[in-house]
Amino acid sequence: MQRVIVQALGGPEHLALETGAAAAAPAAGEVLVDVEAAGVNFLDINLRKGNGVHAVPAPFTPGLEGVGRVRAAGAGVALPIGQRVAWINVQGSYASALTMPADRVVPLPESLTPAQALLFQATTAHYLATEYRAIQPGDRVLVHAAAGGVGQLLVQWLKHLGAWVVGTTSSADKAEVVRAAGADAVINYGRDYRFLDELMHLTDGHGVDLAFDSVGAATFVPTVKGLARGGMAVSCGVSSGPAPAINPAELTHACTRIAAGSVFSYIARPGEFQARAARIIEGIAAGWLRMPEATAYPMARAADAHRDIESRQTHGKLYLVP
Ligand SMILES: NC(=O)c1ccc[n+]([C@@H]2O[C@H](COP(=O)([O-])OP(=O)(O)OC[C@H]3O[C@@H](n4cnc5c(N)ncnc54)[C@H](OP(=O)(O)O)[C@@H]3O)[C@@H](O)[C@H]2O)c1
Repeated sequence: MQRVIVQALGGPEHLALETGAAAAAPAAGEVLVDVEAAGVNFLDINLRKGNGVHAVPAPFTPGLEGVGRVRAAGAGVALPIGQRVAWINVQGSYASALTMPADRVVPLPESLTPAQALLFQATTAHYLATEYRAIQPGDRVLVHAAAGGVGQLLVQWLKHLGAWVVGTTSSADKAEVVRAAGADAVINYGRDYRFLDELMHLTDGHGVDLAFDSVGAATFVPTVKGLARGGMAVSCGVSSGPAPAINPAELTHACTRIAAGSVFSYIARPGEFQARAARIIEGIAAGWLRMPEATAYPMARAADAHRDIESRQTHGKLYLVP
């Protein structure tokens, strides 16, 4: 089989394709899956560099999600051979075949394209949109990096729940992507991440009730300043580096709140991923949830996919095909 290896922590040049090793036979409760597509996520880049709370030592095979077909099932697994499935939270997904716990997968309709079937970003958007506030029509919500994969899906989910949504992004081209996702307003924060004055202008000086900040270092302090009374800023990524510490005293005047979260926690309970996946598949079938445009790379070009994400030129999903 093929698999990508991070030979040493650092740049994309440390990604190499290895062939020849055989996938492990599934033990009880496991499935062996032939991979159709493996999603590339920003978190894979953090892991390749050795950054962040989920760091693992090299060498390892990156990748967290994919779509494929069951080739073999261990004892106690009810999934039939040939069943199309998607998974998230299975480290090592940049491979042509993979053995994983059966409770990490969800059966998929045949009608979904690989891009629609890669569920990591949509599952993230679902937990972000549903776990922090019971969104009411008219709630004002800020989504940073709204042209990214999570960003586009989160904008759509918040709009579906009735929120007024403003998205930030770094270029005029990507601003069109944010508008197409349904945002009511877009702020081009450029390469110096300036957005607060425009945000306050757009909200008549009130600020927003909820803000999702996946950019981190470059944006989190002004994000908190842009909250309305009782508003909440959710730290959900570190694309520009970790957010600085904020003294709770700074939240006193406007009674604002800071939260953080990880999709891994919000899929940890039995059946939780499958329940979120069901909502996503329903949204796609109903037509209101559109998965971002996707670009496929051969598995041997995993390093190029990483370079392209890091260049900030991409918008939407990148995935690898064996
Ligand atoms: N908490 C969770 O559970 C969770 C789950 C999944 C993903 N995430 C995080 O959410 C973020 C977005 O993920 P994604 O899959 O949507 O990624 P993506 O599609 O690659 O989008 C990332 C976007 O971040 C923006 N960005 C801002 N500063 C950047 C920088 N210094 N370098 C690179 N990009 C920068 C870019 O948009 P602009 O050019 O428009 O700024 C880029 O398009 C990542 O930080 C990821 O780690 C968190």
